[in-house]
Amino acid sequence: MLAKIKQTADYLKNKLPVIPTTAIILGTGLGELATEITNKTEIPYETIPNFPISTVEGHSGKLILGKLGKTPILAMQGRFHFYEGYNMKEVTFPVRVMAALGVKTLLLSNAAGGMNPNFEIGDIMIIRDHINLFPEHPLRGKNFNELGVRFPDMSEAYSKRLITKAKQIAHENNIKVQEGVYVGTQGPTFETPAEYNYFRIIGGDAVGMSTVPEVIVANHAGIQCFALSIITDLGVPGKIVEVTHEEVQQIANKIQPLMTTIMRELINSV
Ligand code: HPA
Repeated sequence: MLAKIKQTADYLKNKLPVIPTTAIILGTGLGELATEITNKTEIPYETIPNFPISTVEGHSGKLILGKLGKTPILAMQGRFHFYEGYNMKEVTFPVRVMAALGVKTLLLSNAAGGMNPNFEIGDIMIIRDHINLFPEHPLRGKNFNELGVRFPDMSEAYSKRLITKAKQIAHENNIKVQEGVYVGTQGPTFETPAEYNYFRIIGGDAVGMSTVPEVIVANHAGIQCFALSIITDLGVPGKIVEVTHEEVQQIANKIQPLMTTIMRELINSV
């Protein structure tokens, strides 16, 4: 694994004029932010050695290097999901490469179902913390001290400083934001009403099928994280209706300009 990470990082270092210290992983229907990136270099995943290839509909896979506002950034358009069949080492490989490139801050976005009864469809939720319910842990197996410690602390998996800053930005831009706990599950089924209820009882505000593996590995690697969920459907008793991937994408698309504003301003402030 160490050799692969180094090989991929070396390949990217040769391709990239500058190596940004901030990276962003764009989730379902949230790739639009990439269109705001200037001075772009785009690298399709299939041309990057050792990179898995994104397959799911609605995710085009490429790395985009450029500037968002005044800040150099490395964006991943399309991520690798566990439900696609990748193992956790594959899902989180890009984060390992980011760490090897010197990335210090990782921003992430996703679409999620809301369990908090105060949430509405189209809300943006700042992830304060997560509950990992994936059946495989990304750090399972031999630990490489070069990558991080055996038993990583997770007491501040999402940077409190970035959360405070993001709330301030949202307030200044009149963007309503919620804050809460994200439950990460493997999918690919959306939840049954009983499952939404269970996730609410254990302390979740929203549920989705990504983000948690990447955030775990980023924390292991000493990268600070910040993540936003767009609430695309509700798992709240009385409000549960059929969910489709298309609807999730539609809502995500509609809310994405607001998310982009928060991310852009946040990136310029880190
Ligand atoms: N559950 C899991 N993942 C999701 C959901 C959901 O309700 N909505 C968008 N992604």
